[in-house]
Amino acid sequence: MSIRIDSEYGILTLHTAHTTYQMQIGRGGHLLHVYYGPRAEGMFARSIVPADHGFSMNPYEIREGRNYSVDQLPLEYPGSNIGDFRTAAVDLISDKGICGCDFRVRSYDTEKRVYTLRGMPAARDPEAESETLHVVLTDEATGLEAELQYGVFFEKDVITRAVRLKNAGDHAVTLLAAASMCLDLPERYTERIHFYGRHTMEMQEERCVLAHGIQTVSSGRGMSGHHHNPFTIICEENTTEEQGWCIGVMPVYSGNHRTDIEVDQKESVRVVTGINRDTFTWRLEPGEIFETPQVLLTFSREGLESLSQQMHRFFRKHILRWPEEWKKPPVLLNSWEAVFMDFDEKRICALAEQAARLSADLFVLDDGWFAGRSSDTRALGDWTADTEKFPHGLSAVEEAVRDHGLSFGIWIEPEMVSEDSELFRKHPDYALRVPGRNPVMGRDQLVLDLSRQDVVDCIYGQIARLLEDGGIRYVKWDANRNLADLYSMALPPDRQREVSHRYVLGMYNLMERLISAFPHVLFEGCAGGGGRFDAGILYFFPQIWGSDDTDAVARLSIQRGYSFGYPPECVGAHVSDVPNGQTGRTVPLSLRALTAMSGTFGLELDPARLSEEEKEELRRYVGIYRKYAGLIRTGVYSRLRGERGLDPLFAWEIRAEDASEALVFAADTDPQANAKAVTWYLRGLQEQAQYRLTCVEPETVQAGDRTLSGQIFSGAELMQGAFATRPFSGNAPAALYYFERIECE
Ligand code: GLA
Repeated sequence: MSIRIDSEYGILTLHTAHTTYQMQIGRGGHLLHVYYGPRAEGMFARSIVPADHGFSMNPYEIREGRNYSVDQLPLEYPGSNIGDFRTAAVDLISDKGICGCDFRVRSYDTEKRVYTLRGMPAARDPEAESETLHVVLTDEATGLEAELQYGVFFEKDVITRAVRLKNAGDHAVTLLAAASMCLDLPERYTERIHFYGRHTMEMQEERCVLAHGIQTVSSGRGMSGHHHNPFTIICEENTTEEQGWCIGVMPVYSGNHRTDIEVDQKESVRVVTGINRDTFTWRLEPGEIFETPQVLLTFSREGLESLSQQMHRFFRKHILRWPEEWKKPPVLLNSWEAVFMDFDEKRICALAEQAARLSADLFVLDDGWFAGRSSDTRALGDWTADTEKFPHGLSAVEEAVRDHGLSFGIWIEPEMVSEDSELFRKHPDYALRVPGRNPVMGRDQLVLDLSRQDVVDCIYGQIARLLEDGGIRYVKWDANRNLADLYSMALPPDRQREVSHRYVLGMYNLMERLISAFPHVLFEGCAGGGGRFDAGILYFFPQIWGSDDTDAVARLSIQRGYSFGYPPECVGAHVSDVPNGQTGRTVPLSLRALTAMSGTFGLELDPARLSEEEKEELRRYVGIYRKYAGLIRTGVYSRLRGERGLDPLFAWEIRAEDASEALVFAADTDPQANAKAVTWYLRGLQEQAQYRLTCVEPETVQAGDRTLSGQIFSGAELMQGAFATRPFSGNAPAALYYFERIECE
């Protein structure tokens, strides 16, 4: 049993295989957070020592002794205006003028299945192995109820949280903040890791010491954003890849998110996560319900590596869902960097033929294929084939692609509209726009008001028509600007700050309907690369284009960043041409191909520009990827080298869950003269087992004067430094080593 309730002491305990999470109903009925850490039996509430804290007030009924203060207690879901001066989880104003809320426990209950959310992604439980704890809190003055929901995923060491706020009072309330969770932690947590970036340079790891006051990671862009990924890690000072306590906090949300980490006067650490309250209010009439997005929580005492592995295993079972036909990952060729928008039927068919010669599985026609799309200033919203480029329609291209033995895929940007489009001319009100103000332009396009059901229905109809003859087996779903001009014609003035969340709900509705109606289609998310790379999108679309920067050197730190929270097989990564279109850098095909292999591995170049030898080499890499794709999609991932911009040598390992095989990828971005040999410390192998090394790339690797390929090491040797290779040299050298467990003779 993963949920235990001790009614006598009011203790609610959640156990996963290796972690325990405990709450206690405090004297005043406040729900206290008393423990989240290594699996343990016990009553952690004893860690709370009553004391008179200066300038920390006491609830009226517990004022005697002055030693019970909500400003000092670890609270599970704090309201506001109640003498807790830290960041609140919920804030509101009622139509009676009541500000804030004072939550006390009313009831609790367990359920032998995992909770779901209306219209929002919530981790799936395909084998019905998880349980839910519900705890209902109420605020007497307004009648607001907060039902805290905890999904306990025992095997995966993940706890999910979400809150159902119900207005059970007789006056409307306006929510000013409605976080998905609060986590009050002890002072041992002194650092946080988050992933900042920009367009074409996402997911840069940043580790900071927590300071007194509030540090915030957020987005107000209407999307989770390139700039601050919603995933945050809170850890101890000494946490490394292999040791230390750490907690991962991942909102399952694609809109404006916010994580506040507040260190208070006595060094307690409060983490509040959910929808960004800066761009949010929500009006709840009596009887109405508001559900917050879900947050995933995972704890490890063994450092960042196992934290990431817990997230990866969780994603693989409970978030990602691949269409049956794509369980075996396809190698695709995408037309974007090959031809941009400069093509016609003949050029596209020739490109598809070249893709087939490189033994790709799937050909993707990127931007530029639809009516009048001669440049990125026009035609978004008109999702029918351009008759000039494609006089015989898309079906002719589809057929040609199929004749080459490939599946056909297409690019769309369904949330957007160009002013110069039929859709906009017919429905100018479909675009988000503030009355009396010129709209903000981004890439010359406007954002459709997906907070409106009629707009969602219209877009659904367009995309469904495109997919309904079954010829399209893959869709790249792009979104190339952020949201501004938040105003919806369909909402009254006092509800306008609901638009950004309603937009996300509309978008999820569109995605859910499309993946349900077309379950055979593989959707890949994209927002100018990783501008909306989050668990919310991955719930619908199992892969997301990782970055518009296809430079393999830049990709090393970007893809390393993703690996902290997301498994490698969901990161879109392609081999592109050189010099690279974004950075101008020229690096060898080996680095480009091997880097793409720690993602989805696709091609994004015009093979016609390659020499015959290069094509041959590329075909070889396609073959290598195919051989290891299954391992990459299911394996256990460890970051071996490449720490936060400090180490120019990037390396990671992906091994089978049963440690029967392991792939090690390495790339040196700054080879040095007179350098020392590279000593490897592999992870997670069986100490006693024997492993044979195959040097896949370069085909022969030397250590001193020995050729390493074919050599046999014990697991202990590989993990403890017996495997060493000559220093890397050359222009951006890369290597791939494969270790296979062999039966002892
Ligand atoms: C975005 C995507 C690119 C490409 C272009 C097309 O920038 O990230 O991969 O599809 O749009 O306009």
